[in-house]
Amino acid sequence: MVNGGSMKTSAATLAVTRVSGLTLDVVDLDAARKFAAALGLHTADKGDGLVGIADDGSGITLRGASRRRLTGLRFDCRPGDIAALVEAALAFGTTILEQGDDALMLDGPDGIRLDIRAARAPAPRHEALVLPHAPLHSQAPAARPLALSHVAIFASDAPAALAFYGTVLGLRLSDRCGDGLMFLHSGHGGDHHILALVGSTTSGLHHHSWEMGTIDAIGLRANRLAEAGHARGWGLGRHVLGSNFFHYIADPWGSHAELTTGLDQVDPATWEAGDHDPVDAFYLWGPPLPEGFIANAEEHDRTPALADG
Ligand SMILES: [Fe+2]
Repeated sequence: MVNGGSMKTSAATLAVTRVSGLTLDVVDLDAARKFAAALGLHTADKGDGLVGIADDGSGITLRGASRRRLTGLRFDCRPGDIAALVEAALAFGTTILEQGDDALMLDGPDGIRLDIRAARAPAPRHEALVLPHAPLHSQAPAARPLALSHVAIFASDAPAALAFYGTVLGLRLSDRCGDGLMFLHSGHGGDHHILALVGSTTSGLHHHSWEMGTIDAIGLRANRLAEAGHARGWGLGRHVLGSNFFHYIADPWGSHAELTTGLDQVDPATWEAGDHDPVDAFYLWGPPLPEGFIANAEEHDRTPALADG
């Protein structure tokens, strides 16, 4: 794998560098708080909800509401890029909700609020995929999420969302399975995907993925989640597109938390996007795909007739 920090991108490249947060409305805030803690996030009350923060400061904001809904995504950009991002948004016809010297808020596809903040470039990824030597069980590491890795969202018009995220935020297609699944990386390079778009009839959240650093940390955290009553999901396995190891755990608000590591590192100058058959490209190995894994909980919320589908 290539270190994302060593890649050269044109000085003219305009792109967000990473996804650093997501905001959700959830029905049961107490269950959400317990799950975020079991996931290993540092939790704290905030306003009418709470935050769950990974070691690097990225994280999830959860607010109590009458129905679950993905309401916002947060991205980082390089210092000094806000003005050019404003220009790109205006040229695309995007509504600017707020604008400051080092922050920008846009009305994104499906009404998702996009909060962009100038920040230092992400730290190079920790690349040891395994602990070099298994410690005693009693001395196992904490295995907390190091960072928010990526977010996979449902889009009511996935090709239109691809056009938006490509033109306004500078994300580039890494790989796709037709219009059903698209993986996007930053134009500055780095992780194979910071955002994935899943074709649907409404917006929604499929999964929030956390960089764990090692396969051991994935296993240790999955054990802790199981001990806290969260064993249902899909994993351990390895994806083909992105090459990452995965272990998905069903969260209490109808999507999945993915514990991951080992994403391919993309050099935008040489990467060629592929269009793949999902049967061949979804995963290399792992347990059988659970029924309903791709279901959009928000779609079910809005169309009760499909709730059992
Ligand atoms: Fe993922």
